[in-house]
Amino acid sequence: MSTRLRWLGHSALLFENDGKHVLIDPFLTGNPKAAIKPEDAPADLILISHGHGDHVGDSVAIAKRAGATVASNYEISGWLQQPSQGLSKVEGLQHGGSFTFADWVRVKLTLAFHGSALPDGSNGGNPCGFVLTFPDGTKVYDAADTALFGDMALIGEEGLDLALLPIGDYYTMGVDDSIRAINLLKPRHVIPIHYDTFPAIAQDARAWAARVEKETDSRPVVLEPGDWFDIPK
Ligand code: NI
Ligand code: MN
Repeated sequence: MSTRLRWLGHSALLFENDGKHVLIDPFLTGNPKAAIKPEDAPADLILISHGHGDHVGDSVAIAKRAGATVASNYEISGWLQQPSQGLSKVEGLQHGGSFTFADWVRVKLTLAFHGSALPDGSNGGNPCGFVLTFPDGTKVYDAADTALFGDMALIGEEGLDLALLPIGDYYTMGVDDSIRAINLLKPRHVIPIHYDTFPAIAQDARAWAARVEKETDSRPVVLEPGDWFDIPK
């Protein structure tokens, strides 16, 4: 089965493969670019990259409704299991660690350079990105919120079909550093995220795509919130 992605706006990503769904950073309530409502989000597995509100988002409510498993770092997994959040199907990993969910998708936590305090001020551990490997062999890197870092070259050695990179600047890498990141990661396709949601992270995605075409060997794909992308394999 092929793997496809729907961009839900900001850093919220929905992957579909073999009728199952991975939802990442489902910030929908309060997201001016949200493509769907949290009650309409399907999820078998939810991944949370770090503790900030624009990434934890509606994770708890969606997990409870959908009966989804939630995976994040060890500290956030503990927070999710507190009585105030009340989740029980939780995986708590750390950087470099991976697990296979339901004999289906393999998830590895990667480094990310950012903050991770939770919305209530709790310690959210360290932020991460994700490498996902689907049963059809499709390999995807979601950098989530991060600066450029040289070890992206190591992630690229895995052979990426798709990378999702923030380009908004201010809180994460901006356009210039995203070009350098693409040249380290060498993904077949690259999609920009974490831009235009708020004025502080406004970017011209078409101009970004033109630079990717000219300055890298990767193919840029600019989506509108709600768009699907069939990941070529
Ligand atoms: Ni953040
Ligand atoms: Mn963010």
